[in-house]
Amino acid sequence: MAIESFPALVELSSPRLSLRSFRREDLDAETHWPDFDDLIYHHYNPPRDDSQGKDRRYLQSLRLFDLKLSIFDGEDLVGYVGLYDSNFETGESWMGIQFAADRRHRGYCKETLRLLTGYFFDEAGMKTMLLEVAAFNLPGIHCYEAAGWVTSKKFWHPHAYQRHLDFEHEPALAPIAQHFRRTPEGVEVDYVEMVLTEPRFRELNAG
Ligand SMILES: CC(C)(COP(=O)(O)OP(=O)(O)OC[C@H]1O[C@@H](n2cnc3c(N)ncnc32)[C@H](O)[C@@H]1OP(=O)(O)O)[C@@H](O)C(=O)NCCC(=O)NCCS
Repeated sequence: MAIESFPALVELSSPRLSLRSFRREDLDAETHWPDFDDLIYHHYNPPRDDSQGKDRRYLQSLRLFDLKLSIFDGEDLVGYVGLYDSNFETGESWMGIQFAADRRHRGYCKETLRLLTGYFFDEAGMKTMLLEVAAFNLPGIHCYEAAGWVTSKKFWHPHAYQRHLDFEHEPALAPIAQHFRRTPEGVEVDYVEMVLTEPRFRELNAG
């Protein structure tokens, strides 16, 4: 039986990482994160807004039934992970994750998903965790597959965050140009929907 909503306060930890419910002060800490060098991740750059802007973003992020967790390595805020658009009758949630540009490739993704999936299936009694990822995001796909996710759908995403990129002319995008296509309405991006079910989670974590 799944829960009726996620609790307001959640704390999860491994020897290296601690996760706790997102707070307004995290937006101040996030200001010190560097920008991404890579064009395709620019929409993850922390907004360089003032205190009022941060207040507004914080209030807008508070959505009943979502779970947004801040991820710390020691005292340092290194990323966020969240569960969105949950259906507590079917036990389904959509997952989103991001790390500061200079904190990637350290195994944080794998470690965070181990904590989050343990909480989701074992404690919250939920059944299915879904996600959407751009097909060119190989570190993301690699991490999700290692944690047990499998591809459930491939599709051209008309609303993807990367659709403004000039893939026909920008030399840096040439290696991934096949993941974009122009349509009469604009630009679509090659996306993958992935799913982690409870039986698959149990199979991977048996013993
Ligand atoms: C995607 C993201 C969350 C992954 O987090 P991370 O902490 O860097 O990932 P990890 O270090 O745990 O794992 C990444 C894996 O991908 C592998 N990898 C890295 N680059 C790769 C590439 N080009 N091709 C294939 N695999 C790659 C790494 O070797 C690692 O696997 P391993 O642990 O077996 O060696 C992080 O890079 C990020 O925040 N990116 C920007 C925001 C984003 O893309 N969010 C996800 C949107 S769906």
